[in-house]
Amino acid sequence: MDPFFKQPSLVDWLTGAFTHHPLLRKSTTTADLAEIFADGAAWQNMDPKQVIYTVEVLDTSAAEGALFTGVTHLNPGKVGDEFFMTRGHYHARREQGEVYFGLRGKGLLLLQNEEGGATLETVSPGSVHIIPGFTAHRLINTGADILSALAVWPAIAGHDYAALGQGFSLRVKEIDHQVKVIRYD
Ligand code: F6R
Ligand code: ZN
Repeated sequence: MDPFFKQPSLVDWLTGAFTHHPLLRKSTTTADLAEIFADGAAWQNMDPKQVIYTVEVLDTSAAEGALFTGVTHLNPGKVGDEFFMTRGHYHARREQGEVYFGLRGKGLLLLQNEEGGATLETVSPGSVHIIPGFTAHRLINTGADILSALAVWPAIAGHDYAALGQGFSLRVKEIDHQVKVIRYD
């Protein structure tokens, strides 16, 4: 092969599957998500080993200025009447933003600022989501299939899972076969 050419990573836009690059992979199970869902009894009755979501991240430089690229695959399902979702986080470096791109499935991106103001964006194949700094973010799968979203974020951003305290102020549930958003103050 010509020495000037370097094999790039490939992502399958239809599934979010990466090839041609070392990957870091982390699965999050029901057991990992204690206290995340509103219905603790329903959570307790689930298989603790059930995978709720898997994140694959290209194993690239973590130097200041570098960017990470990863795909989240969030399974369909509910805990009680609440749709499966990611834990959600602020970035440890609060001012650092991120971009999400919807690849497959149907869901919502919940954004919440430090004053508690929350918004929801519809995630679908091709959707682009600009997450500003100082904004906590969580994916929610409201569909019947896997929700996959590609994300690009600064390597220095880090994650702060503890800072949400009471959690997000919105919950998304299925009530009477409809997607309902419930506000908790
Ligand atoms: C990275 C990012 C995503 C999430 C992933 C899992 O900054 O926002 O890659 O890390 O969707 O969600 P959490 O990290 O909240 O478990
Ligand atoms: Zn993030």
